[in-house]
Amino acid sequence: MSGLDVITEALTRVREECAAAGTGRVADYIPQLGHADPSWFALALASMDGHGYQAGDAEVPFTIQSVSKPFVHALVLAELGADELSRWVAAEPSGEAFNAISLQPGTGRPANPMINAGAIVTTGLVPATGAAGRFERIRALLSAFAGRPLDLDEQVYESERATGDRNRALAYLMRAAGTLPGAVDTVLDTYFRQCSVLVTTVDLAVMAGTLANGGRQPVTGEQVVPEPVAVQVLAVMATCGMYDVAGDWLLRVGLPAKSGVSGGVIAVSPARFGVAAFSPPLDAAGSSVRGVAALRTLSQRFGLHLM
Ligand code: DON
Repeated sequence: MSGLDVITEALTRVREECAAAGTGRVADYIPQLGHADPSWFALALASMDGHGYQAGDAEVPFTIQSVSKPFVHALVLAELGADELSRWVAAEPSGEAFNAISLQPGTGRPANPMINAGAIVTTGLVPATGAAGRFERIRALLSAFAGRPLDLDEQVYESERATGDRNRALAYLMRAAGTLPGAVDTVLDTYFRQCSVLVTTVDLAVMAGTLANGGRQPVTGEQVVPEPVAVQVLAVMATCGMYDVAGDWLLRVGLPAKSGVSGGVIAVSPARFGVAAFSPPLDAAGSSVRGVAALRTLSQRFGLHLM
């Protein structure tokens, strides 16, 4: 069997083994997400030499949701630098849920850049003239990571905007504390659009692979973000990416990772590959039940734990 076949075979087997993992619920607090097929389950891996491997429904499009957060974090780190970004958002594994009310005492900054509060501030920091320009920068950046132009799912965007009162409440609290860089509606409109960008599991694997490859897209060869930025983003994903289970994740899986409520999860094996899983039913922390099981199995079976 060739090296390519061995990896595809491993993904296929892990997918089969994890198909019955636990029970979960498809997110429906954004009503449009509730239409996802709970049986969808995909795995994809992108290696540093530009090869892609996949198993299952790896070309089904879904919205990126919180998996966008590390990439937008990278954009702002590259533009503003770590010192300026840290004036706005801390980088602490807050142990909080993704939609927690998070304002650090004293500074009023959100503690964790991967939960909604921290990510909303980060989106507001993307340098651009006007909300449309800010979203186009984000879309261009996500597209460069994916190596192809990504579209917006207008229906999910409208659904998020119509039902996003908790995010609005977070943004108003930060605005009152002086830690939201912009007007609530403008920043949130960009954040809702950012979460509604359509990707496939194959896209997420190669986006994670770009972080694994020091910021260079392994297929197009484009240096999307500088290498030190990619390294810092991996550190943030390792400590903060899995919300209130980030510690348990680092213990059991040992890879920088990020999940989203549409069922996508990415993990990064630095200098080796990016891997992504997708399956809509979620656990209590808002991460894909089968996706978490599959990445945990891959890490344990192939000794991927970094520590
Ligand atoms: O802001 C929200 O609630 C969603 N657009 C994204 C949240 C998310 O994906 C959390 N991840 N598990």
